[in-house]
Amino acid sequence: MKKDIFSLQGKVCVITGGYQGIGEIVTGFIADAGADVAIFDLNDATHVAEKVSKEYGVKAKAYICDVTDPQAVQAAIDAAAQDFGTLDLLFDNAGICLHKAALDCTPDDWRKVIDVNLNGIYYVAQIFGKYLADHGKGGSIVMTASMSATIVNIPQKQASYNASKAAVKHLAKSLAVEWVDKGIRVNSISPGYIRTAITELSDPEYQKLWIASIPYGRMGTPEELAGAVIYLLSDASTYTSGADLIIDGCFTVV
Ligand SMILES: NC(=O)c1ccc[n+]([C@@H]2O[C@H](COP(=O)([O-])OP(=O)(O)OC[C@H]3O[C@@H](n4cnc5c(N)ncnc54)[C@H](O)[C@@H]3O)[C@@H](O)[C@H]2O)c1
Repeated sequence: MKKDIFSLQGKVCVITGGYQGIGEIVTGFIADAGADVAIFDLNDATHVAEKVSKEYGVKAKAYICDVTDPQAVQAAIDAAAQDFGTLDLLFDNAGICLHKAALDCTPDDWRKVIDVNLNGIYYVAQIFGKYLADHGKGGSIVMTASMSATIVNIPQKQASYNASKAAVKHLAKSLAVEWVDKGIRVNSISPGYIRTAITELSDPEYQKLWIASIPYGRMGTPEELAGAVIYLLSDASTYTSGADLIIDGCFTVV
């Protein structure tokens, strides 16, 4: 039995949405597990790259990349592959949320959420998957879905977000089966309410109601997602693909 089955030593991991929030914190844990990290975000995440490189002694670099633009994603993947020599793992995580009633949503509102949360996740996974396939390499992809893929949150109205995340969950399952013969595993995590900009900037009244409905009596932290991501990226999960791991302080259990 391999001793350190959760090690990511010798691997290169692409992380999207790593400028802040879940992506930023999980990047630190991935680096601590030994991987070099290429951080893709709309914003310049150089501060994150410098911090993890200093703290964990790994190679880290930030790339400004809008995941809704397939050409920008291709350019960032090419640049990262060139800079790091190879790519192995992907935490496909960038996303946005819109609290707006479906009856008030404009086509642009709807398109924006679907474009980042579904199309963006797909473009990055597809272009990354193609890189692996073209290089005859296996790899592991973890997508950030949400418990909103499984339940409908209340009281806020967010049909576009919920639909996008349900699609991400099924996209992960679909690619998992499609890429079995390529040795590429694809899984998703489904966080519950996690303390980041997405939740902290939400209506404080909503936050009170959410906390009252979470059996844990509190929101989760980005740190509490890191173990799941590392498990799914690492060789600890070589027989796991197409799985969705809900991490929600029992919210969806009751
Ligand atoms: N916070 C929660 O409660 C929660 C719960 C379930 C799922 N999620 C999901 O977790 C992921 C991360 O969310 P977070 O809470 O850390 O939010 P966040 O807003 O703190 O971070 C999101 C990051 O994604 C980046 N981003 C947004 N649009 C982008 C684009 N077009 N291209 C590249 N980068 C882009 C942002 O710049 C930011 O750095 C999202 O997919 C979100 O839906 C969050």
